[in-house]
Amino acid sequence: PELKFQELRNSNSIHQITLDDNFPIWLISTYDDAVSVLRDSRFIKSPDNLRRHNHEASKGKTKRNSPTYILRRLHMLANDPPQHTRLRNFAQKVFTKKVFSELQLKIQQITNELIDNIERKKEFDLIDDFAYPLPIIIIADLLGLPNEDREKLRNWSDILIEVQITEKNKQLIDETSEAFTAYLKKIFALRRKNPGEDIISAFLKLEETNDHMSENELYSMIYLLILAGHETTVNLIGNGIHALLSHPEQLHLLKNNPHLIHSAIEEMLRYNGPMLASTMRLAAEDIHMKGATIKKGDGILILFSSANQDETKFDDSLRFDITRKSNKHLAFGHGIHFCIGAPLARLECEIAINTILKRLPNLRFNPEINMPEWRTSTIIRGLKNFPVVFG
Ligand code: HEM
Repeated sequence: PELKFQELRNSNSIHQITLDDNFPIWLISTYDDAVSVLRDSRFIKSPDNLRRHNHEASKGKTKRNSPTYILRRLHMLANDPPQHTRLRNFAQKVFTKKVFSELQLKIQQITNELIDNIERKKEFDLIDDFAYPLPIIIIADLLGLPNEDREKLRNWSDILIEVQITEKNKQLIDETSEAFTAYLKKIFALRRKNPGEDIISAFLKLEETNDHMSENELYSMIYLLILAGHETTVNLIGNGIHALLSHPEQLHLLKNNPHLIHSAIEEMLRYNGPMLASTMRLAAEDIHMKGATIKKGDGILILFSSANQDETKFDDSLRFDITRKSNKHLAFGHGIHFCIGAPLARLECEIAINTILKRLPNLRFNPEINMPEWRTSTIIRGLKNFPVVFG
């Protein structure tokens, strides 16, 4: 894909692809275009804000007020101002830097436990045995969801992450949304009676005293947080360690200069970030860009991976360099939807990588098993598996 991205960037135009349903989608590949689209309020998230009736994107494949509709459409990432602002401000009250930094001990403790288990083996899978469980345990803990529900949450999340609702998967997605909403309803009832120190209790308390949030909006918010907690940080840890093992001189440099961990994580985000592309935007009106006309209702995807390799913004942009300065990558997005979980993701990754380097200093690819396999998703960049040895 590197070469294709380069071709796209150098073509000095924007490119349209067409998915099923004849829905045209424009790909934004350069850094400057990405930033300008992400700052432009004419590119919107909610099909409900598209005035053209009956447009493909706003056609209800999902019944309004069905659990699937509630979960997918009522959260901040699916909305535009003023709804977006209200939902984000609400979350921001609870999701503070302070809350994240207080999690440090917990993250370290879980990381140690996972590595204790790994040390009893000779070889392991870096995704299944380490990168995957860590963020899930942390987000479930933050939300105050019982440990024994983790497996269930993982299964639901695997089903609900499916981007496209097709005839084939519709029933499964609907049933899963229903089960998930019923589960949250039960948890909310418990927390209302018996509040804890967790985020769900904090949301419920705020809801009573503060800005109005509907119960359905809260379900959708928790859904977004769980999905974000399951699908992204795992790949920052996985892709980051993959980049280090593939560049032994950079790994060596980091081992000898632990203070480089912060710039190393920014470089992991830039070089091989977990989100190849943004979530979908829609053009709220006809928009002219680089000689093309994006029609009202057309889709737009920002290729973060391409923007992050833009040679006009980053010196030697295809090189993995953990000492890179002023690394203004777009791996967490840009503008009003900039990732609210970025401080948490950075912290988890920092603790995970520091601890791995300290406790498993001989970590390397498993020479007896084929190289790790990448997932084929268009939005998420991550490894299916990552067999390693450390003895
Ligand atoms: C939004 C990336 C971890 C919560 C976003 C966006 C990106 C992103 C690119 C913007 C998407 C767009 O504009 O289309 C990442 C990456 C992560 C990560 C690379 C890990 C390395 C997390 C975590 C949480 C989280 C751990 C929560 C616990 C959110 C939320 C939004 C968001 C709530 C929506 C913000 C809004 O609409 O205003 N993330 N994320 N993310 N992320 Fe993350």
